[in-house]
Amino acid sequence: MTGQKPIVELRGVSKSFDGDLALANVDISIRDKEFLTILGPSGCGKTTILRLIGGFDTPDVGTVSLGGVVVNDLPPEKRAVNTVFQSYALFPHMTVFDNVAFGLKLKKQSASDIKQAVAEILELVEMGKFANRKPHELSGGQQQRVAVARALVNKPLVLLLDESFSALDRRLRKQMQMDIKHLQRELGITFVLVTHDQEEAFTMSDRVVVMNHGNVEQIGSPREVYEEPRNLFVAGFVGETNLFDGSVASCIECDKGYRIEAAIGQMQCTLTVPAIFAVGEKVKVLLRPEDIKILPWSAYTHVEGNPIFKGCVVETVYKGTTYDVVVELEDGKTVLATEFFNEDADNVSFRRGDELAVSWIEGWEVVLPYEHQSEL
Ligand SMILES: Nc1ncnc2c1ncn2[C@@H]1O[C@H](COP(=O)(O)OP(=O)(O)OP(=O)(O)O)[C@@H](O)[C@H]1O
Ligand SMILES: [Mg+2]
Repeated sequence: MTGQKPIVELRGVSKSFDGDLALANVDISIRDKEFLTILGPSGCGKTTILRLIGGFDTPDVGTVSLGGVVVNDLPPEKRAVNTVFQSYALFPHMTVFDNVAFGLKLKKQSASDIKQAVAEILELVEMGKFANRKPHELSGGQQQRVAVARALVNKPLVLLLDESFSALDRRLRKQMQMDIKHLQRELGITFVLVTHDQEEAFTMSDRVVVMNHGNVEQIGSPREVYEEPRNLFVAGFVGETNLFDGSVASCIECDKGYRIEAAIGQMQCTLTVPAIFAVGEKVKVLLRPEDIKILPWSAYTHVEGNPIFKGCVVETVYKGTTYDVVVELEDGKTVLATEFFNEDADNVSFRRGDELAVSWIEGWEVVLPYEHQSEL
């Protein structure tokens, strides 16, 4: 379990480079022992946040606090924070042992203490037998373990990881993600990971910060940001979306549910986000591909509650354990549905050209404030 006390806090932090705003009034509160991921597209300000926490940069406006103390002007070496940079930045001429021992030598610890601490941490990342190798004699994944060991040996309160897995192949990346997650649980240290990979963010994190253009769009558990995105950007960045235009026709159950009149017909939506919409207000209705139900048109009789739309399969996309079905509705709108393979059939149940009845799982709709989709 993660504690509730904030160990790192950014309050009203703004930062510009050459007049361009890289961070705009950012508030993030990171709990002790939590695994927090900062997720967002390239250039949205992720590394800038890590640099401010690590002390490599100072905010123009606002405060950065560690353990409740404002540290805006405290240099990196005086902060109980260590960073694993994307490039790993190992010293090429030093052995693995010396790379990891470097920080402890600077702190003038005794040779025997250093030897013991380095040996322990190398065992932890399963690199004990490589202690005498140089970085160029290691694979990318092994170098990464050394970089993590070098940061952890200083026993930081907070470990910052910047795109640490992006250089690794898929299998190794998955392995490292699991290893790092276990390590974090074992050590009880707060981890802050930066990534632009939604799957990685969801795999690793207690909470995710979704960023765009220097703004925090949403902070929540992976499930919250996926199932209850606050706006179209978050909805689109963390998963596939089917969006329908609609407007609020009436309020069914005070602030818990609305009747939404959407372009696709009358649909009843249950609000999952704590937002209040006015009657008549334009909205977007989001359905994830796994919320869409499809049936052969010939098999359709009647499904209680939801309207049924006629559509035609234009494409099927193999995804390993599932496949996506791209359906064109009669009005020309395209809908994406995720299907599991039918165990009884040799292959997919739906094929190009098939006529379908399209509906959705009631109650899984998300109502979002109206925005133009070109902003995505
Ligand atoms: N030292 C700097 N000088 C000038 N501009 C900078 C500097 N550091 C960052 N920026 C700018 O600030 C913005 C945010 O950069 P940042 O490195 O935080 O993005 P990022 O989210 O980490 O992106 P990526 O995923 O590509 O690493 C970018 O527009 C970048 O060009
Ligand atoms: Mg970056």
